[in-house]
Amino acid sequence: MFLFILLLSQTSSNIKQLYTDVFTSYQPSILPNSDFSAPLEITLTPYLMTITQFQEVEETLDVSVGIITSWVDDGFSWTPSSYGNAEHIIVPHTDVWTPKLVLINSVETYEPLAGDNDIFATVYYNGTMSIAYGDVLSSKCTANIYKFPFDSQTCDLQFAVWRIASNDITIIANPVSLAFYNTNSNWALDSYNSKSIIMNGYSMLIE
Ligand SMILES: *[C@@H]1O[C@H](CO)[C@@H](O)[C@H](O)[C@H]1NC(C)=O
Repeated sequence: MFLFILLLSQTSSNIKQLYTDVFTSYQPSILPNSDFSAPLEITLTPYLMTITQFQEVEETLDVSVGIITSWVDDGFSWTPSSYGNAEHIIVPHTDVWTPKLVLINSVETYEPLAGDNDIFATVYYNGTMSIAYGDVLSSKCTANIYKFPFDSQTCDLQFAVWRIASNDITIIANPVSLAFYNTNSNWALDSYNSKSIIMNGYSMLIE
């Protein structure tokens, strides 16, 4: 019991030392792309969780989605064995640079996903960063009412990193995951996919 407590306080001081060491000269407002010859690659894994509603007249689709986002921030690297084998630390997202993802075809005011909520980023010893965004979104989706009420609709969710063009950021789209999907009694999900495109100079995820 005594040993266990000792170990715990040792680990906590390792993490504090690690935090001090890696954040001393870190600048969270700067795009972590020291190699300016290539855009920063950001990998997005979209999770469709709920189709809340589709409104034919308003042509809006409300969904809840999660997006796990990862990239490499070369401002971070440490040797785990120097810090009690700590391979990652979890920090408030405001401590590090994070991509501000916005839904481009939103019917509401543009706001970064998850907005002002307190979310956390995981920083790995090799500079890999990961952050999970989740939000309830309202998107524009042009209705096809030809076969109403047995209609089928195709809707896009278009995401981009706010105000950073494709020569600085490239989005890589992983397949859509339904791991957390809740079925909707009015709408069946026929198919889904994700891809990344460049539109007007911005790299985008289309889900
Ligand atoms: C960094 O480490 C994490 C966790 O071990 C691993 O998933 C990731 O692939 C590594 N990234 C690179 C760029 O080696």
